[in-house]
Amino acid sequence: MIRAPLARHSGSLPNGHKKRKDFKAVDAARMAPFAQELPMSEPVVYDRNSAELELEPGEYWWCSCGRSMTQPFCDGSHEGTGLEPVSFVIKEKATVWLCNCKHTKDKPFCDGTHNDLPADIF
Ligand code: FES
Repeated sequence: MIRAPLARHSGSLPNGHKKRKDFKAVDAARMAPFAQELPMSEPVVYDRNSAELELEPGEYWWCSCGRSMTQPFCDGSHEGTGLEPVSFVIKEKATVWLCNCKHTKDKPFCDGTHNDLPADIF
């Protein structure tokens, strides 16, 4: 296999190539509109249905940001959002309906708000 000799740069880059730091600036500008679509301080609708769970007695941490990968419970993904998980205690084994839309007024429980969410909220 014949290899082409490596190009040597004498200060300027050929064909309008940009230095890596220029790409970072372009990436940031390209991502800005997406970052503005959903402020980090707004909860993400994980699901428009509640989570029906039979819970054993104990303390639980409900995810309020919607970004947890262990829904409906917190996995720490809220870090940097300004949102905090909500703790609650189950004293006796019980069936609960935990909010998955993250817009309930009765955190952490479903209050039916998911039925009234606009279609463009996700
Ligand atoms: S799932 Fe959020 S209010 Fe029902």
